[in-house]
Amino acid sequence: MAPQTPRLTTTFALILSLLFLASTTCYAHNITRILAKHPAFSTFSHYLTVTHLAAEINRRQTITVLALDNAAMSSLLAKNLSVYTLRNVLSLHVLVDYFGAKKLHQITNGTTLTATMFQATGAAAGASGYVNITDLKAGKVAFGSEDNNGKLDAVYVKSVEEIPYNISILQISQALNSAEAEAPTAAPTLNLTAIMSKQGCKAFSDLLIASGAKSTFEENLDGGLTVFCPTDTVINGFIPKYKNLTNAQKVSLLLYHGIPVYQSLQMLKSNNGITNTLATDGANKYDFTVQSDGEDVTLETKVITAKITGTVKDEEPLIIYKIDKVLLPKELFKPAPAAAPKAAKAAATADGPKADAPTDDSEDQTVADDENGSISKMEGERFIMVLLSMCLGVILF
Ligand SMILES: *[C@@H]1O[C@H](CO)[C@@H](O)[C@H](O)[C@H]1NC(C)=O
Ligand SMILES: *[C@@H]1O[C@H](CO)[C@@H](O)[C@H](O)[C@H]1NC(C)=O
Ligand SMILES: *[C@@H]1O[C@H](CO)[C@@H](O)[C@H](O)[C@H]1NC(C)=O
Ligand SMILES: *[C@@H]1O[C@H](CO)[C@@H](O)[C@H](O)[C@H]1NC(C)=O
Ligand SMILES: *[C@@H]1O[C@H](CO)[C@@H](O)[C@H](O)[C@H]1NC(C)=O
Ligand SMILES: *[C@@H]1O[C@H](CO)[C@@H](O)[C@H](O)[C@H]1NC(C)=O
Ligand SMILES: *[C@@H]1O[C@H](CO)[C@@H](O)[C@H](O)[C@H]1NC(C)=O
Ligand SMILES: *[C@@H]1O[C@H](CO)[C@@H](O)[C@H](O)[C@H]1NC(C)=O
Repeated sequence: MAPQTPRLTTTFALILSLLFLASTTCYAHNITRILAKHPAFSTFSHYLTVTHLAAEINRRQTITVLALDNAAMSSLLAKNLSVYTLRNVLSLHVLVDYFGAKKLHQITNGTTLTATMFQATGAAAGASGYVNITDLKAGKVAFGSEDNNGKLDAVYVKSVEEIPYNISILQISQALNSAEAEAPTAAPTLNLTAIMSKQGCKAFSDLLIASGAKSTFEENLDGGLTVFCPTDTVINGFIPKYKNLTNAQKVSLLLYHGIPVYQSLQMLKSNNGITNTLATDGANKYDFTVQSDGEDVTLETKVITAKITGTVKDEEPLIIYKIDKVLLPKELFKPAPAAAPKAAKAAATADGPKADAPTDDSEDQTVADDENGSISKMEGERFIMVLLSMCLGVILF
């Protein structure tokens, strides 16, 4: 075999991952990244993130965002709306159709009603949730919420960014007034344990309640929460080992199944890598690695690899996945041997609680090897440079 074969294989793998990354990194729009280039919209962008609308916008295609500059945002914020109400108001500013500056000035018959994300989420009643766009004389374009008694409050200012026909960001002069969108909204009542109990995650939910770990999960609900729930049969099979843990270890193990941010399946697929968990606490890393393999997403701890097998609930800011194994952190369980020759040696204790199984230095070394991944620092730099040139549409070899 030619000596350069492994290199070629690496290069080929590199190009494949490049193509994959390029497709997710360069083309999928990211409203936060786009607005970062426009400091006049920093407050607007900040609140799109706080209200979790940014993720919703990134997921959709063929949309128009009616952006408010910092001055218009401070008038809106002066109304002291709760974050849930603000979400409704801002979602009224996201049209589920594409309007570039050109189309805006060429509306058939000079006026149209268009649906918004507020309407699409079902939060709005009746005709509210629609925005009236009307071409006025002298090239002006006016906007008003349909439930605003025919008053068109805002006018088009300028085009901020247009990526036909994926996303268009147009500045309008002020926030659209809508009694419906501004009506006080209660925090969404997401009962974590009730949701899980009904969907094949009752055993896990019962452990959260019994151990007291439930409250930590609930405290993270507002800011975004991702839960990986081992299914009932998986938990039942794990109970003998679970019982062997101290109370503190039980809590850590359960918290290891949550991440304090909302991560859709698409986000997990495109953000492979090490992720912290609710159990992470300084030196106690309690992290695992997210990997995607085609359509599958796996979670790799140093001890086991679990696979996501389904979604129990996806209602931002909460998402709950089903997984096919209990995630065993290396902080509590002995890492599985990485290399085949070492398998026999460690087989007897692999999987068992770590307490009575002293760690062997040579195995730690094996783990460290894996940690560096298959792309070395040098290759990594080249990788980034090639990726950048692909984003610019130039490939120099
Ligand atoms: C629009 O989105 C689609 C699907 O993600 C993508 O294939 C296309 O390249 C995007 N268009 C532009 C101009 O970014
Ligand atoms: C969008 O861009 C922001 C800022 O660059 C980044 O923090 C965020 O992770 C990105 N979101 C996605 C889904 O890639
Ligand atoms: C909003 O809150 C601030 C401080 O809490 C208060 O001074 C102001 O009067 C409130 N405005 C409205 C419209 O309620
Ligand atoms: C434009 O107006 C004409 C005549 O009133 C009407 O027949 C047509 O349906 C209107 N088109 C749209 C898109 O509203
Ligand atoms: C939009 O609002 C204007 C002004 O109130 C009104 O004349 C027009 O009929 C409305 N357009 C539609 C499509 O409802
Ligand atoms: C959640 O649902 C459970 C029943 O499944 C109930 O006992 C509990 O009180 C509920 N919690 C909240 C905060 O409503
Ligand atoms: C529980 O711990 C004991 C003592 O350390 C050990 O003998 C036993 O095998 C463990 N049981 C399980 C299921 O890991
Ligand atoms: C992993 O990478 C670090 C920093 O690049 C390096 O210091 C270390 O020696 C590498 N470990 C292995 C096992 O290659």
